[in-house]
Amino acid sequence: MDNILVTGGAGFIGSHTVIELLNAGYNVIVLDNLVNSSRESLERVKKITGRSVKFYEDDLLDMEALQNIFEKENISSVIHFAGLKAVGESCEIPLAYFNNNITGTINLLMAMEKYNVKSFVFSSSATVYGKPESVPIREDFPLSVSNPYGRTKLMIEDMLRDIYKADTSWDIALLRYFNPIGAHESGEIGESPNGIPNNLLPYVAKVATGELEAVNVFGDDYDTPDGTGVRDYIHVADLAEGHIKALEKLSTHPGLVTYNLGTGKGYSVLEIIHNFEKACGKEIPYKITERRPGDIDMCYADPEKAKKELGWEARRDIDKMCEDAWRWQSKYPNGL
Ligand code: WQD
Repeated sequence: MDNILVTGGAGFIGSHTVIELLNAGYNVIVLDNLVNSSRESLERVKKITGRSVKFYEDDLLDMEALQNIFEKENISSVIHFAGLKAVGESCEIPLAYFNNNITGTINLLMAMEKYNVKSFVFSSSATVYGKPESVPIREDFPLSVSNPYGRTKLMIEDMLRDIYKADTSWDIALLRYFNPIGAHESGEIGESPNGIPNNLLPYVAKVATGELEAVNVFGDDYDTPDGTGVRDYIHVADLAEGHIKALEKLSTHPGLVTYNLGTGKGYSVLEIIHNFEKACGKEIPYKITERRPGDIDMCYADPEKAKKELGWEARRDIDKMCEDAWRWQSKYPNGL
């Protein structure tokens, strides 16, 4: 069976995708520098699947280590998750984001070209759509970014489109994630951000465990039904399954393909809080605060293209997302 290199495979989305790869019978090699993840997540993957992975604690900025992996392992495809991903932090240290995300990806692509590995799944983001003119968002919508993190995603997409134009022997899938949340239903792995969470769901979960006092709702004067921000939350397991379908698509040599991985349904901040209250059986205190700079009113996907061309659609609803997130958070309040 094919050997898949998963960069960032010890991370939140990466580890959930490794589970689905192992369940689908692939052999998995993980490269991760553990800057925002832990080796324990791969132990939990083994506990869940009964299968282990080859793990290289290396950095994409270390070209020698990278080439060593391609030299030693007979890699057929690469799924590339590794990257810094906090929007706010990217505004404080843009150069670190460009070096880590862009230089790291260039090194990876150069190693792939050298070893003639040309099947590549890239972890992109709905952030490349900027502030959309309308919703739901289709893949042919205009692209624009307003922060260094989003710029790294768009720059990498643009690089990949140029690489494919110059050499159509590449097969490349650009997967634009909306808002991944939830956890594996075993409760053994889940989102485990360092420090105070930037994202809504892990913050709400920490209020539910009592670690944090109340949710700060960043503004209730948006142009949405209840005034709070609306996003397309997608279960991380659905997202992981989308990667398996994308890998299968690449084996048919489609060239460069782009897909939104979202549910097509938007939920507001207040709806998320109320759904999480149902899942955890507790009241979640919140207060309305100032808007967060850079936030947009509404963002949700038109998921039709992935459904038609990948035969994939998200199948877990918001209750399942919140139940699975709560099981993980309450079982491991301190994360991995
Ligand atoms: C969701 C909603 C906030 C926290 C980001 C990145 C995106 C992707 C997913 C990587 C918004 C509101 C949030 C809080 C709040 N990451 N909110 N209080 O900003 O949609 O997307 O994460 O690819 O690239 O931009 O996600 O969870 O931060 O915010 O009111 O404490 O919750 O205003 O409406 P976002 P988020």
